[in-house]
Amino acid sequence: MTKILKINPHKPQAGKIKEAAIVIKKGGIVAFPTETVYGLGANALNAEAVKKIFEAKKRPIDNPLIVHIFDISKLGSIAINVPKDALKAAKEFWPGPLTMVLHKNKEIPPEVTAGLDTVAVRMPMNEIAIALIKESGVPIAAPSANLASRPSPTKAEHVIEDLMGRVDIIIDGGETEIGLESTIVDMTVTPPVILRPGKITLEDLKKVLSNVVLNVQSAKDTPKAPGMKYKHYAPSADLIIVKGDEAAVNEKIRYLATQAKKAGLKVGIISHSNNKFKEADLSLCLGNDLSGFAHRLFSALRDFDKAKVNVIFAEAVCEKGIGTAIMNRMNKASYEIIKA
Ligand code: TXA
Ligand code: MG
Repeated sequence: MTKILKINPHKPQAGKIKEAAIVIKKGGIVAFPTETVYGLGANALNAEAVKKIFEAKKRPIDNPLIVHIFDISKLGSIAINVPKDALKAAKEFWPGPLTMVLHKNKEIPPEVTAGLDTVAVRMPMNEIAIALIKESGVPIAAPSANLASRPSPTKAEHVIEDLMGRVDIIIDGGETEIGLESTIVDMTVTPPVILRPGKITLEDLKKVLSNVVLNVQSAKDTPKAPGMKYKHYAPSADLIIVKGDEAAVNEKIRYLATQAKKAGLKVGIISHSNNKFKEADLSLCLGNDLSGFAHRLFSALRDFDKAKVNVIFAEAVCEKGIGTAIMNRMNKASYEIIKA
C-alpha cells in the first residue's frame, strides 16, 4: 500500500518528514520532489532497499543510481580521491541541479552503482529533499520516480500514475521547478565530461573548471552514463521533431498534421511560438521562454499519452542555455527528426 503525504515545499512539516524518514531508515522506498524532477529514494547503504527501487520502477539493474546528500561534508563517505575541480564545482553549484561522477567509497554497495567503481553524487536544493535526507541520517539513492522509459515526473500526480501501489510513500510537494533532470559531469576523467546536459550548462561549468567538454557520442560507443543507452522519456505516440526557420517549421507542421489527420491519426503538436495549431487534436504551446518550456515538457508528453494521440509534431527549440538539455531529451524521445 502506498501512502500519499502532502508536504509544504517551502516549510516542510517536521512530523511528516519524520514519518517518511522512518520508512527510509527501515529499508522502505519513498518518492520525493527535488528541484529537477521527483526521485524515488532508498537508503543508499542498504542493498536490499536499493533493489526495491529497481523492482518498483522496472529499471534494468545495469543502470546505476544517483546518491543524494544534504551537505558537502558528506561527500567523503560516498566518494574517494575527489579532485579539486569537483570540490570547486560543488562549492559553486550545490545545492543544485549538478550530479558529479566520482570514484566510489567502498561503503556504497554495488547495487547502487551497477557494479561500477564510480558513483554519481548530487546535493539537491529542494527543501523537502534536503529535510528528508538529513532526517534519514543516511545518503539517499534515487533515480527519477517514473516507470522505466516513461517521462520523468514533475508533479506528484505523475508519480501516482506510475508508482501507486509499488512504493511505500509518495510525497506530494507540488510541481518541480526545473522540470529536466540534473546535469551529469564525469569528474573521473581529464578534462571532465558532461554526460547529460541540464540546467547547469557547459558555459556555467567553464566559468569554474579549467576545462570541461560536452560528451560527443556516436551510436556505436559504449554509453558513458549507462542510462543513456535506454529509450527514454518516451510518450506512446511517435514524436517527430521539425527543425529549421520558424516560418518554414510552422508551415511544415501544418502540412504534416493535415496529412496525418487525413490518414485517420490522432495528432498532437508541441510549439514554442505563440500560435496554437488548429490542425491538431491537442496543441500545446510551451512558450518562448526556454526555462518555461523545460518546466512543462515532460508533463506535456504525459498529456499526449492521456489524450491517446498517435503522432506528435514538435517545433525544435534553440540550443542555447537549457535549450541544449531540452533538445537532448526531445531527441531521445523522438522517432524522427526532420528539416523543414
Ligand atoms: O535530477 C536528477 O538527476 C534526478 C533527481 C531525482 O535527482 N535523478 C535522475 O536519476 O535523473 P536517473 O536515475 O533517472 O538518471 C541518472 C543517470 C542515469 O543515466 C545513470 O546511468 C547515470 O545517471 N549514472 C548513475 N551513476 C553513474 C555512474 N557511476 N557513471 C556514469 N553514469 C551514471
Ligand atoms: Mg530517469
